[in-house]
Amino acid sequence: MPDIAFVKPALPRSGALVLPVAEETEAAPGSLRAALEEASGGALSRALVAAKFTGRKGQSLTLWAPAGPQGPSKVVVLGLGKAADLTESGAENAGGAICPMVSAEREAVVAAEAMTPGQAAALGLGLTLRSYRFDRYRTTEKEEDKPKLERVAIAVADPAAAKAAWVPRAALAEGVFLSRDLVSEPPNVLYPEEMAERCKALEKYGVEVEILGLKEMKKLGFGALLGVAQGSAREPRMVLMHWRGASGPKGKKGATKPLAFIGKGVTFDTGGISIKPAGGMEDMKFDMAGAGAVIGLMAALAGRKAKVDVIGAVGLVENMPSGTAQRPGDVVKTYSGLTVEVINTDAEGRLVLADVIGYVQEKYDPRFMVDLATLTGAIIIALGHEHAGMFANDDQLAEQIAAAGKATGEACWRMPLGDAYDKQIKSDIADMKNVGGRPGGSITAAHFIQRFVKDRPWVHLDIAGTAWATKDHPIVPKGATGFGVRLLDRLVADNYEG
Ligand code: BES
Ligand code: MN
Ligand code: ZN
Repeated sequence: MPDIAFVKPALPRSGALVLPVAEETEAAPGSLRAALEEASGGALSRALVAAKFTGRKGQSLTLWAPAGPQGPSKVVVLGLGKAADLTESGAENAGGAICPMVSAEREAVVAAEAMTPGQAAALGLGLTLRSYRFDRYRTTEKEEDKPKLERVAIAVADPAAAKAAWVPRAALAEGVFLSRDLVSEPPNVLYPEEMAERCKALEKYGVEVEILGLKEMKKLGFGALLGVAQGSAREPRMVLMHWRGASGPKGKKGATKPLAFIGKGVTFDTGGISIKPAGGMEDMKFDMAGAGAVIGLMAALAGRKAKVDVIGAVGLVENMPSGTAQRPGDVVKTYSGLTVEVINTDAEGRLVLADVIGYVQEKYDPRFMVDLATLTGAIIIALGHEHAGMFANDDQLAEQIAAAGKATGEACWRMPLGDAYDKQIKSDIADMKNVGGRPGGSITAAHFIQRFVKDRPWVHLDIAGTAWATKDHPIVPKGATGFGVRLLDRLVADNYEG
């Protein structure tokens, strides 16, 4: 993560200088642009004219060492579009666009004098999020291919105000990076016990972390989760993370009902005995992205000391075929007491969630529950990679999440629920079966989960299509996206703090 600083404008004597320029603006060009114009003997304005630069969004122009040896080695001019249309999310995207253009330099100065403190901080966030790389296992990468960027100085009129706007965003970026790291890790490294250990690291932010082991889970009666786990040589874990930002440590300031976020953490999904085809199976290391999002969210909320009480709960298992694996036809008993006929061992995520949801609901009596899961391939057929599927029993919570999705770019599209779909998971010998056939596969999966929700607002986010990107986006490089961390941080910030 590059170091982000907010400074008064001064022309850098080396590294990169970035000049974001708005379209059709009569405003003063800003002191850095004027200083470069002077130091380059007019080369900047000549280049802008020659390149027909108008400031249109996404337009860019590069000049190499235009001010000679005493000035920046690279100058990038970036079009922002119309100044009046620049939102914070637009500023994030501008920051994201800047990142690859300066990553070969050690330092960059970005001229953001015309921006509000919020926009300047948003630019810093976008740049940071785009700079993410998972390079822990590369040992032979050439020095010249590695990104060099260590420090970004964002030049603003009021550095203290921009810094204040940056502090919570820095915590958010940490949460997103943590989530992306977890999702990127290979499944031989990140198995349930290891993932639980990494949750422990949240104690440094003041999060209380409780890990339930095999014995405890057996005693508590998590028959559905344990059925999935029984084919693996790796023991399952359940982790309960508690951030008391409203009630204070140990709830001293009086109890408030916590919000609850619950994640599917299948560290590898082979399908079990209903085994998946070999092609592309390696992707199933990301089947813990729901849990990864919850863990990253807890880091972000605690890191920025959000004034709210929150539970983060994750069910961690590996779904493997073996002599001890569960069979199609098995009937398991969930924590809630409801029984499930396991028709397909590859529909394992809903079995894990059923027990986590049932337990969290009873133990913490949360104000609402939001679960995240890479639950169905069918949601990718329905919505592609552009929206997460959203299922809800409560219009207000659904609307709040949809609004947070629009604001952060982590878009959610509401899908229907209904009795006719629920009937598809009727079983002949148990309370329900774990699959409802191909029609409406994501919807019947949501209905399965809904059967474990009692009398409270609940939203299920199917993130199978949005947890991993196969190409670069403005603030999301190719790979693990961290989807859900920014979305739910925004949900909390806009509706449930103070
Ligand atoms: N983890 C998968 C869902 C998935 C598939 C996520 C592809 C990302 C990409 C889930 O456990 C699963 O296998 N679901 C089955 C359900 C089916 C057996 C009813 C599916 O979607 O095929
Ligand atoms: Mn599966
Ligand atoms: Zn799965």
